[in-house]
Amino acid sequence: MAQQPPHIAIIGAGIFVRNTYIPRLAEISNLFVLRAIWSRSEESAQGAVEIAKKSFPNVECKWGETGLSEIINDASIIGVAVVLAGQTQVDMSLRLLKAGKHVLQEKPAAASVSELETAISCYKSFNVAPIWAIAENYRFEPAFVEGRKLLTEVGDIINVHTIIEGSMNISNPYFSSSWRRGFNGGFILDMGVHFIAGLRMLVGCEITSVSALTSHVDGTLPPPDHISSTIQLENGSSGVFVMVVSSKSPKVLWRVVGLKGTIQIERGDIDGKHGYAVTLFTGDGGNKNLFYPFSGVTDELKTFLADTSLATLKKDQSYQVEHRLSFLEGARDVAVLEAMLESGKRQGATVQVRKF
Ligand SMILES: *[C@@H]1O[C@H](CO)[C@@H](O)[C@H](O)[C@H]1NC(C)=O
Ligand SMILES: *[C@@H]1O[C@H](CO)[C@@H](O)[C@H](O)[C@H]1NC(C)=O
Repeated sequence: MAQQPPHIAIIGAGIFVRNTYIPRLAEISNLFVLRAIWSRSEESAQGAVEIAKKSFPNVECKWGETGLSEIINDASIIGVAVVLAGQTQVDMSLRLLKAGKHVLQEKPAAASVSELETAISCYKSFNVAPIWAIAENYRFEPAFVEGRKLLTEVGDIINVHTIIEGSMNISNPYFSSSWRRGFNGGFILDMGVHFIAGLRMLVGCEITSVSALTSHVDGTLPPPDHISSTIQLENGSSGVFVMVVSSKSPKVLWRVVGLKGTIQIERGDIDGKHGYAVTLFTGDGGNKNLFYPFSGVTDELKTFLADTSLATLKKDQSYQVEHRLSFLEGARDVAVLEAMLESGKRQGATVQVRKF
């Protein structure tokens, strides 16, 4: 028997909904029914609905407390994507989860470790246990999935390093985003969770402690705009994580140096397609060069929709969300960055990463 596609709503109508969620969802519109887009204000909801109508002619515009109640009380809407300011996402997710909706929440999982702890215990106290997924596209980028497999070829690991020189300048649509400016940890936390997710995905083990220095040089950005951290991995390897929020010559690079070779993942483009170049250097002429265009957002959305359908079929709550989407994975990324920012405030004192 053909399964009914899940009915979903989008909570949020900001830049990311307009320029990423709507176009990516439009590419896979056969997999679900988009019922509504909600925002606090009617104007903002209307703006996003206008864009969405081209691909989803029946999408409804909902706003304010009344619109939210209508979505909550509509039992046919089984899943929601929460795409709000970093400061308010967790409260909204918990409210919808409590009402029994499966939630895909945008990263960062929370604004701090203390918010994560409160949120997790609150979620555990509910009688229902819908899916709480974190949308972290890096865990779905094929470059990291394949890079992880190639890691076995580098042998014993000597060093792991991540060098991020971002391009968060006035031309970037997120540059003026007010919630990001008021966010504790600034762009380092908001953007940094992606790069930590990539690093954790590639090395396949957790970061246990860090020692970092932070600084604030570019006054057009919220503080800090630079972090340089050493990282200790739980299996004995170690390395560095460096992030500059805005540079004139962007670079996004991960390298793992081993006894038998080095693996590198670097953002780039080929034939106008943006993605990641994955290279395995073995020093004997047997280098492997691969290129994977971005597809993480689409893959993550597809996974959430499939998990949501499955969860709806298995009414006994025995389903498990795919681990790359799990809230705990998102929590771990935030915990690493919070430890780095904390260490930076204490002039590089070693800080243990809170385990989730
Ligand atoms: C853990 O670290 C060692 C080197 O200390 C390395 O050889 C090994 O591949 C690592 N394992 C994982 C799962 O990261
Ligand atoms: C902002 O960064 C982008 C990407 O590096 C670059 O193309 C653009 O020229 C920069 N704009 C400004 C105003 O610096």
